Amino acid sequence: MDEKKKRIVIAIDGHSSSGKSTMAKDLARAIGYTYIDTGAMYRAVTLYCLRNGLFDGDNIRTDALREAIGKIEISFRPNPRTGRPDTYLNGENVEQEIRGMEVADKVSPVAALGFVRRALVAKQQEMGREKGVVMDGRDIGTVVFPDAELKIFVTASPEVRARRRLEELEAKGIAASYEEVLANVRKRDHIDSTRAESPLRQADDALVLDNSHLSIAEQQAWLLEQYHRVAGQ
Ligand code: DC
Repeated sequence: MDEKKKRIVIAIDGHSSSGKSTMAKDLARAIGYTYIDTGAMYRAVTLYCLRNGLFDGDNIRTDALREAIGKIEISFRPNPRTGRPDTYLNGENVEQEIRGMEVADKVSPVAALGFVRRALVAKQQEMGREKGVVMDGRDIGTVVFPDAELKIFVTASPEVRARRRLEELEAKGIAASYEEVLANVRKRDHIDSTRAESPLRQADDALVLDNSHLSIAEQQAWLLEQYHRVAGQ
């Protein structure tokens, strides 16, 4: 990393499947920062709930989860094959499992629980204490790091996001229909932006990026430019 550059916190928030994770991961790799996927942390808690019978249909057994939350250990470890971090739940690599439809379908109500958010936000603040992180999520620029030096809010139309999500799932060999994925994208948008606890909203000082019609390379160039502007040339 360039010594003359300021070490900063980069907060990337936005809608699900807006492509922000790809952007955030690539940026972190390009500038030698640590990438932290906070959505993966909410997904890992959801997987824990599924595996431990903490769902009753769509309802969560909140008392049982409240008791368990202190025992849920989430960490990230680099995967030498992909060059990106994998998510671990209590020591087990769950990267694949947390990306499936079952977890995607159940994660929003888990992420709406105040005690879950408080536990994960504290962990995220600890992970970013030394700066030099690119953190992606929904509330990074508003709640986790309101003083982040660079805040980006990424969005794209629901249709564009559903297409991208479908392609991602297909690439992983997970079967789903466009209608099902679009419905999931819309449902998650609604829950994420109307929940009482830290609803998804743009920080007043965030830069907005609508990437509906941008290529990954175009987004990356824009993002690097913002980084250099804030961290120094
Ligand atoms: O980014 P993602 O699709 O992996 O996020 C999964 C879910 O977690 C999504 O419903 C939004 C929620 N989430 C959140 O509430 N706060 C965050 N910082 C990150 C994700």
